[in-house]
Amino acid sequence: MNVVLELYRQDPASGGEGEFKSYELALEPTDRILDGLIRISRDMDGSLSFRKSCAHGVCGSDAMRINGKERLACKTLVQDVAENEGDVVRIEPLRHMTVQRDLMVDQQVFFEKFRSVKPFLIPQDEVQEKERIQSPEERALFDEATKCINCSACYSACPVLDDNPDFIGPAAIVAAARYVLRYMSIRVNSYLVSTAYRYRQKLW
Ligand code: SF4
Ligand code: FES
Repeated sequence: MNVVLELYRQDPASGGEGEFKSYELALEPTDRILDGLIRISRDMDGSLSFRKSCAHGVCGSDAMRINGKERLACKTLVQDVAENEGDVVRIEPLRHMTVQRDLMVDQQVFFEKFRSVKPFLIPQDEVQEKERIQSPEERALFDEATKCINCSACYSACPVLDDNPDFIGPAAIVAAARYVLRYMSIRVNSYLVSTAYRYRQKLW
């Protein structure tokens, strides 16, 4: 089927304003949006910039807004966002981060906040001679929180950041929850210095 990918294009280095540019191409309904972007980049317009690496939903580098929703381009099929011949699929960069070029954003602020969650235990009790046993059920408590791939899609979609750019963001809270639940499950009397000082007041 023929679809039109309407892509946000901007080159801040040259001072240009952002604009949408349309590319019509034939894609299978089961092709991924990432396949379309690669085809445009290789065959139609080599100046298009976007990130991707694994192409299998693991690295988190190709998060972007597709028809107004944050998605991974490698996990979004054409049939997920286009039904009919000639349908237009609008693709934009993530929000709350500066556009570096076209669909690429500068994720520094996202990672700075994410890394402000300290990923280690600060025990308040005596050091034990043996390991702290954890049951599979206790491990399951924070299983979902271990699956974050740092794509920053949630950071883009977060409505709190619309009003408060200093908010630490959902992914950093997920990371904090992971450590809190882990410490609870191994029954450590510990405290968690969950965020760096500048974000400490802005967790909730
Ligand atoms: S928590 Fe946020 S950054 Fe992590 S995988 Fe989910 S959407 Fe991506
Ligand atoms: S390219 Fe790695 S998650 Fe899509």
